[in-house]
Amino acid sequence: MTTAPEILGTLHTLKTIAIVELDAVEDAAGLEAWRIAYLGRKDGRITMIMKGMSALDPEAKRTVGAMANDVKTLLESQLEVRTEEMKSVELNRASIEGRLDVTLPGRRPALGRLHPITQTVREITKAFASMGFQVVEGPEVETDHYNFEMLNIPKGHPARDMFDTIWLDHTNAEGEQDMLLRTHTSPMQARVMEMTKPPVRVVVPGRVYRYEATDATHEWHFAQVEGLAVDQGITFANLKGTLYEFARLIFGPERKVRFRCDFFPFVEPGVDMSIDCFNCDGAGNVKGSDDGCRICRGSGWIEIMGAGMVHPRVLEMANVDPTVYTGFAFGVGVERIAMLKHGIDDIRYFYGNDARFLRQF
Ligand code: FA5
Repeated sequence: MTTAPEILGTLHTLKTIAIVELDAVEDAAGLEAWRIAYLGRKDGRITMIMKGMSALDPEAKRTVGAMANDVKTLLESQLEVRTEEMKSVELNRASIEGRLDVTLPGRRPALGRLHPITQTVREITKAFASMGFQVVEGPEVETDHYNFEMLNIPKGHPARDMFDTIWLDHTNAEGEQDMLLRTHTSPMQARVMEMTKPPVRVVVPGRVYRYEATDATHEWHFAQVEGLAVDQGITFANLKGTLYEFARLIFGPERKVRFRCDFFPFVEPGVDMSIDCFNCDGAGNVKGSDDGCRICRGSGWIEIMGAGMVHPRVLEMANVDPTVYTGFAFGVGVERIAMLKHGIDDIRYFYGNDARFLRQF
């Protein structure tokens, strides 16, 4: 049986020889052979010594084990140093022998960029942040409760038809489907009001989903930015002022804006806001012809958002007293904004994954 002092002696000698041999190694193959001989996991010399310790008593095992570990760590670090040394020697040699031209320009790494919709979301939130709105986010998988009920759209309400919904395979105790991919960012109105007492001023960017056919201006998944302001004394004039300023910041002062009455069960009164069409400059037909513009379908306007004064029922359900507070809300379609800003005539380009399109932004 090998004794502890014998093993310690072997380790000592092994360390000295290993370092001398490592200094003598001249190429990568030699380095690898050295590594396997000394540090190889299966039958490298250090491993073999460690295996031979099993017969020692616990005290001796501890002493020998500690030394074996020290030697192993030292050899590993020496191997690293020698590897680096050899790399620089090899580089010098390659350069002297003309195999390596150090004057060649480096290869430029391929840089990615933000998707145009991400860029537009950031521009929109920045515009509202400059008017004092905070940015918050909410869940894309929503409950029926927040997506509809809390927005004054109870079961059986005809307004539910406006939001062709992608339901999830999940039912409540009554066996009714109760979870969905949110059809708009408006559920965050209730979630924010439940969490924060007025004054509230937030914008909520996020992805929304609808079970609908796609065309030049409709996608089945798209981005919206919701806005909500609740405080004492907020009026429709505040809503209009905020949205005019938004249009000015995003499109410049020359763009025309139109408000029209619209219906959303969670606002009263409700409006939609449109911008004059970029394709026909608001004329409704293609320049120099009688053909109707296919982007605005001949109307000269493109709808970019719904908005209105928060319905008193919605305030009440979220525990905000409608006799004390009023508020306005809006929901902007981000792709429509990006299309208007960049003159893009088909929304489907955004998600077609054509790098030639995406590289332009
Ligand atoms: C809503 O989604 C309401 N939640 C907006 C709202 C918020 C009204 C707060 C009042 C108060 P609407 O379905 O109209 O409304 O969608 C809002 C905007 O999203 C539209 O103006 C349009 O710009 C965009 N949008 C709607 N459907 C699509 C679609 N299929 N593809 C791309 N953009 C769409």
